[in-house]
Amino acid sequence: MADIGFDGRVAIVTGAGGGLGREHALLLASRGARVVVNDVGGSVSGEGGDAGPAQRVVDEINAAGGEAVPDTNSVATPDGGAAIVANALEHFGQVDIVVNNAGILRDKSFQNMSPDMLEAVLDVHLKGAFYVSRPAWVHMRERSYGRIVNTSSNSGILGNFGQSNYGAAKMGLVGLTRVLAVEGAKHNIKVNAIAPVALTRMTEEILGSMGEKIKPGLVSPVVAYLAHEDCPVTGEVYSAAGGRIARFFVGLTPGYYNPSLTVEDVRDHFAEIRAEDGYIVPASNSDEISLLLKQLR
Ligand code: NAI
Repeated sequence: MADIGFDGRVAIVTGAGGGLGREHALLLASRGARVVVNDVGGSVSGEGGDAGPAQRVVDEINAAGGEAVPDTNSVATPDGGAAIVANALEHFGQVDIVVNNAGILRDKSFQNMSPDMLEAVLDVHLKGAFYVSRPAWVHMRERSYGRIVNTSSNSGILGNFGQSNYGAAKMGLVGLTRVLAVEGAKHNIKVNAIAPVALTRMTEEILGSMGEKIKPGLVSPVVAYLAHEDCPVTGEVYSAAGGRIARFFVGLTPGYYNPSLTVEDVRDHFAEIRAEDGYIVPASNSDEISLLLKQLR
């Protein structure tokens, strides 16, 4: 089979001045995509700004014979998102791929988590993906083509101490991914998510000991495949770490049915309700509703 290529495609990669985003941008560009390298160039906690990181990645891409433009707008506002997409349209005339990767951390135990720490994290991760994807979506629908890859995290999907803001944002991205997959289906817009693990400045304190084994560049092939025309799936979430790729999914147990359910029934049948044998993986909420209708009949 032929190698995976992106000739003629235009990609926006947010937060691409370093870490995972930089690797995604370099890989897509090396395979022929023209890339908008977006990054505000702030700290891990989202303070400050610097045009240097985005420009350096653009220089790297151009030096390797690729094509890229820098973008320093923040994803965290509707205007910023619109400006990023406008930049792509102005320079390259189209947007085929959006990789929502920009991110910050403001960790604290829930006891000490303040509303502004929640807002800042939701703004960049969850609303940021919304703000960039929506103007791109309008354009993608017109052209009946699009690929969006969102960046979730096992901190949200599975839970992690001190990350109630981040976990909420990251699981919110799974919901966004699934709804956009449903809405994009008839427009040839596919939307998937990754939950990466990689050594970057964001994770060096906790993952430092795993070193080279979890290089961020080992996550990018997953992003590139999900961003490719041949991507066979939509609305799915892939764990990507150190060269291992696996699928996260939401399963529904067969459960227990009783048309005159009481609270004691719930207590007495709890093991059956939880039992995983025979679970299904609904593709959308209509799968669950059809199952329910069958039982109710
Ligand atoms: P990183 O800190 O190297 O990269 C994040 C980039 O986003 C930075 O370059 C930063 O300047 C940029 N950014 C922050 N706020 C922005 C904004 N408002 N607008 C535009 N750019 C902005 O960290 P890393 O690890 O590369 O993170 C990339 C993504 O992967 C994040 O969404 C992160 O939450 C996610 N992730 C990373 C994991 C890991 O193991 N490294 C684990 C799970 C998720």
